[in-house]
Amino acid sequence: MGNHAITSNDGWSVIDELEITREGKAYILAPRKELFMRPDGIFEPAWAPIFYNPTMMDNRSLTVLSSLAHSYFGNKVKSFAEPLAGSCVRSLRMILEANTQEAYANDIDPYSIYVCRANARLNNIADKVIVFNTDANLFTLQLDNLGIPIDFVDIDPYGTPIYYLQSSIKLIAKNGLLSVTATDVGTLEGKYPYKAFSRYGVLVTKNSFSKEVAARVLLYTLFRFSAFQDRVIEPILTFYDKHYVKIVVKVEKASSTKIRELERNVGYIVVDSNGLPIHTISVDELIGTHEDNKVIGPLWLGPICNQSYLEKIIELSLNKHVDLSKEALSKLRTVLEECRINTPYYLNLPLIAKILKANIPKINYVLETLRNKGFLASRTHFDLLSIKTNAPLEEVSSLFSFRS
Ligand SMILES: C[S@@+](CC[C@H](N)C(=O)[O-])C[C@H]1O[C@@H](n2cnc3c(N)ncnc32)[C@H](O)[C@@H]1O
Repeated sequence: MGNHAITSNDGWSVIDELEITREGKAYILAPRKELFMRPDGIFEPAWAPIFYNPTMMDNRSLTVLSSLAHSYFGNKVKSFAEPLAGSCVRSLRMILEANTQEAYANDIDPYSIYVCRANARLNNIADKVIVFNTDANLFTLQLDNLGIPIDFVDIDPYGTPIYYLQSSIKLIAKNGLLSVTATDVGTLEGKYPYKAFSRYGVLVTKNSFSKEVAARVLLYTLFRFSAFQDRVIEPILTFYDKHYVKIVVKVEKASSTKIRELERNVGYIVVDSNGLPIHTISVDELIGTHEDNKVIGPLWLGPICNQSYLEKIIELSLNKHVDLSKEALSKLRTVLEECRINTPYYLNLPLIAKILKANIPKINYVLETLRNKGFLASRTHFDLLSIKTNAPLEEVSSLFSFRS
């Protein structure tokens, strides 16, 4: 629990701003709408002391329905976790409508948690709603650490869910469900391509089927966050509505073979200048057995080292402040040398020789000749038989002499 202990007799006036309302089978204390109206007459849930948005009722109902369907197909949904619970209405409905035995509900806002407790009592299910008042990630990691198996995790944050995916996926028990709601649809749809790239690691721009792209970006993200934790997703529901997209997936432990199989579902869509889809390219085509040019990326193409730091590190090790082997020191010197060249790849001399059917020139000859021509050139610590240079490949190739 957080340090904002709130009791019913500490003069908390916020209660005056709430009223009892009903959603599904749950009665809840929720903000009095008339007190939080925007100038255009629309209720603004973000202005209220606790968050409850009645227009998201369908979203919550879909959580209940997904759970019921999951149970129908033979999977027990005994426990539910809601890391960003607001009024806890979702948790209450899971118990009252989806027969969930326990709901673990958390919110960082102590008022929310106070109201959650009251709401659980209002529905006579206080013994089934276990409330926490901490950060969503701490909550999920704590449940995981306590070994409490959670059959269904529902993430419903403001904006992007990305911060909460890793810990939530980790928490899900065998064959459990994950529901994720994202309201940053502008980013997911490619309205802000740079944001989409930095947040989700994808290249997307607005096109004629952006809403589906939003869902597919989110699904790809769920795939990726599951895969690195040896899990796979099986999509159950994709639902785009109003200002959000909701995805429900089954999460299962998986072998690397299974993950590899599902990787076939990851790829790119080529779009024309009108934003119309032209064709798809699978990851297999990009990574796989294709003879033609392949795309590699997304990759970091900027600097991979800091010269000043490297110089300092070498200096410190020379001054014997820190032990370092001769081999490592020698390697570090090469690292420093190549750090001056911001070309995001090295060129392998034996390979170029093989392609040109030429002799492999001495590496020092290649480096010196390139430098004499005004290019930057150095050995690379990644590979003894390769060089880093800002000279074009043709320039390097011209230094190979042909076999007689
Ligand atoms: C969109 S509302 C959740 C609504 C709720 N799931 C529902 O169905 O009504 C987001 C909630 O997340 C809470 N919140 C924001 N940041 C948080 C964090 N880092 N950890 C836990 N809760 C957080 C807010 O206080 C707010 O109640």
